[in-house]
Amino acid sequence: MRVLLLNGPNLNLLGTRRPEVYGTTTLDDLETLVRGWAADLGVTHVQAYQSNHEGHLIDRLHAARGGVDGIVFNPGAFTHTSYALHDAIEAVEIPTVETHISDVESREPWRRRSVVRPACVHTVYGRGVESYRWALRHLVARARRPVERLRYADGAEQFVDLRFPDGSGPWPLAVLVHGGFWRHQWTSDTTELSALDLVDRGVACANVEYRRVGEAGGGGGGRASVEDVAAAVRFALEDPRVDAARWSIAGHSAGGQLALAAVASLRDVVAPPALAVSMAGCVDLEAAIAEGVGDGAAAAYVGEEDPAALSPVRLVPLGVPLTAVHGRLDESVPPGQSDSLVRAATAAGDDIDLVEFPDGHHFEFLDPAEPMWQAVAERLVAGVRPGG
Ligand code: DQA
Repeated sequence: MRVLLLNGPNLNLLGTRRPEVYGTTTLDDLETLVRGWAADLGVTHVQAYQSNHEGHLIDRLHAARGGVDGIVFNPGAFTHTSYALHDAIEAVEIPTVETHISDVESREPWRRRSVVRPACVHTVYGRGVESYRWALRHLVARARRPVERLRYADGAEQFVDLRFPDGSGPWPLAVLVHGGFWRHQWTSDTTELSALDLVDRGVACANVEYRRVGEAGGGGGGRASVEDVAAAVRFALEDPRVDAARWSIAGHSAGGQLALAAVASLRDVVAPPALAVSMAGCVDLEAAIAEGVGDGAAAAYVGEEDPAALSPVRLVPLGVPLTAVHGRLDESVPPGQSDSLVRAATAAGDDIDLVEFPDGHHFEFLDPAEPMWQAVAERLVAGVRPGG
């Protein structure tokens, strides 16, 4: 796979330009980082180009035809104005990910408007320079296997990405619920490589998107996000290519809370899952609020609602086999969250396994090469295998 890294106006000033917004990484450093991330993903060819001139960017897009398989493009301020760049991206027909370092949805209102977005296959923003890494991962995932994006409701964030193994089903289903502290800039692209890994292991995978907190997140938070995940599961289980009697579910971080709360709300609505896994789940919302986990993210997620009604530690027994997996060195979600789930679930009579990784952190679950993910994948698939 060959990727073009394209940066627009003023990005040559990275490192010194408003470091409080764009960080201290220079453009040279960024290009080196991107080459390293690309190599980790098996992308050996990376071309990098930056220009402050709209016409030069258009020429570079044209020159990419036939020479690259994907483009990671930060058009800078041209994002908000340049129909010519929109048309160039559209014309060259190379999958292009619109990429921004800063949280364009939370800054000046004019930055919320992107005229290039309709021509792009995906947008990543607000994750610092790591935005480029997620953009690359998306291009790699796209190239690996076709995906069907199906809408389970009308909102822009209410969709589920379904992937199937080769051959004919019906297939058992593994459901993934991404994390990101319920914040709008963190989306289901984070669990795409995990989804592909599950499909490689012979099950269908539903990678769920849901409404997250705030306008840019589609107006979710609280019960609305839980109901979205539950609706997505119901929707995926109705697909004729899915064996609705065999499914399992895992959620990462905030997605751990959502996955388990959705299982509670689906009780008596669908067949119970063979297994529900919390990967570093933020499953004790009251403790998370008290401890300020995620810089106040749990409080923002709960809003005016009753945290007990959303918190898996208060929703047990769920009546399905549970597994909590946590790295003891997790700096995002304290491992005590999983300990609290184990205590509550056991006291309520649920069958729960705790899988601890003494040297594990928070993000290994998103990398299929990592043992922390593999421990989850093996269990998700074993639970739904015929005879399993
Ligand atoms: C940017 C956001 C744009 O609004 C701005 O004009 C830039 C950089 C980003 O990476 O966050 O130049 O694309």
